[in-house]
Amino acid sequence: MAKTAQLLIDGKTFELPIVEGSEGERAIDISSLRKESGVITLDPGYANTGSCKSAITFIDGDEGILRYRGIAIEELAEHSTFIEVAYLLVYGHLPTQDELDAFKTSITFHTMIHEDFKRFFGAMPKDAHPMAACSASIGALATFYPDGLDPRDPQQVETSVHRLIAKFPTMAAYSYKHSIGQPFMYPRNELGYVGNFLYMLFGTPCEEYEVDPVIKKAIDLLLILHADHEQNCSASTVRIVGSAMGNLFSAISAGIQALWGPSHGGANQEVIEMLSAIRDRGLSAKEFVEKAKSGDDSARLMGFGHRVYKNFDPRMKIIRNACIDVLEKLGTQTKLLEIAMELQEIALKDDYFISRKLYPNVDFYSGVIYNAIGTPSNLFTALFALGRLPGWIAQWMELHADPQFKIGRPRQIYTGPKETPYTPIEKR
Ligand code: CMC
Repeated sequence: MAKTAQLLIDGKTFELPIVEGSEGERAIDISSLRKESGVITLDPGYANTGSCKSAITFIDGDEGILRYRGIAIEELAEHSTFIEVAYLLVYGHLPTQDELDAFKTSITFHTMIHEDFKRFFGAMPKDAHPMAACSASIGALATFYPDGLDPRDPQQVETSVHRLIAKFPTMAAYSYKHSIGQPFMYPRNELGYVGNFLYMLFGTPCEEYEVDPVIKKAIDLLLILHADHEQNCSASTVRIVGSAMGNLFSAISAGIQALWGPSHGGANQEVIEMLSAIRDRGLSAKEFVEKAKSGDDSARLMGFGHRVYKNFDPRMKIIRNACIDVLEKLGTQTKLLEIAMELQEIALKDDYFISRKLYPNVDFYSGVIYNAIGTPSNLFTALFALGRLPGWIAQWMELHADPQFKIGRPRQIYTGPKETPYTPIEKR
């Protein structure tokens, strides 16, 4: 196959290298194009732009394939745990038993957060959205750990990585407890990563809290499914902030803000609010689907569509089955699940959705599970962030290890006025 592409500009031919990935994906390397030709490429939304080479996650959007470090998401969902997947993403390989034990011990060691964080959360309004609180508190870790900020010191980076993975559940739980006016619960490390998180969320000092194994398993699965998704909006944010050589905490804090948007991870909250509105207002799923076809962006069918998946989202299939299973085991009412399935059935037969290749995505069913286990909807995206954390970390680390490391700095095509003289205020 050709190893170069030719580009003809103003009668002059430029040879551009073709780069091939391990799964046969091909790209034209345009990094020298501007220097040689004076021309840049234009690609709004980066829909056709590879920003890096990466060995972390592989997606084939047409075939519905997702793999972390080469391992299919279906296999990880069936056999692994979130903490093992976090290790896989961060260190690049599945851990041996000793490596996993050491990792768990280190994560456990760091679960507490500084007591002063209580005042930090206390200073926020009661109705502060958990995503804002999580982003602020992760950013604030830089003030508590000035000894862990150097992105080029492997020891500092590793300690910061472990601190982040360990402390994020504590911070997410604190942000929730603050919003409902309940006391913060200190971590109980013997409960394991997910069990401890559930305890900090739902436990109170007044009563014993028993972690339900069905809920624990479901949350662990959801965290695995969210753990990485290559160069999405928040991962690209983490990379671009990281490329300025700032500290890891600042990049993750920015990633959380990016994820919060309703077109990205914030869609999981929007989906449950949409399903609840359909239920509470007695709307029909058909009416709702009709409205979503209007072309009005504010009426989109949330949880549908994806920039990369144009066939199906493999995470959605796993979550949908888990959702049916969890609701059955918990004996919880299934009205929202029924509405979701009805919406999906109607949309998948509708020409509007078929022709645009719009399928349910990861967020379409996840909220139904979160809702069934008693999680308030404004915490859903923080759960997504908790799952995505190891992926963001892996992306940040890969960026810093890249021999082609550069600050992220796209170009633009300027369309404003040509040079215009300054007009004094009395003459305007
Ligand atoms: N409902 C109705 N129409 C839609 C939807 C939707 N959910 N999504 C896309 N469209 C239409 C859109 O109006 C456009 O139609 P037309 O060609 O007539 O103008 C066409 O489909 C292409 O849409 P786009 O916005 O150009 O596609 P995109 O790749 O830029 O956007 C998306 C992808 C996920 C932002 C978009 O599908 C969307 O807004 N979905 C709803 C929000 C959502 O569920 N987000 C979660 C994404 S998965 C979690 C994650 O990893 O972030």
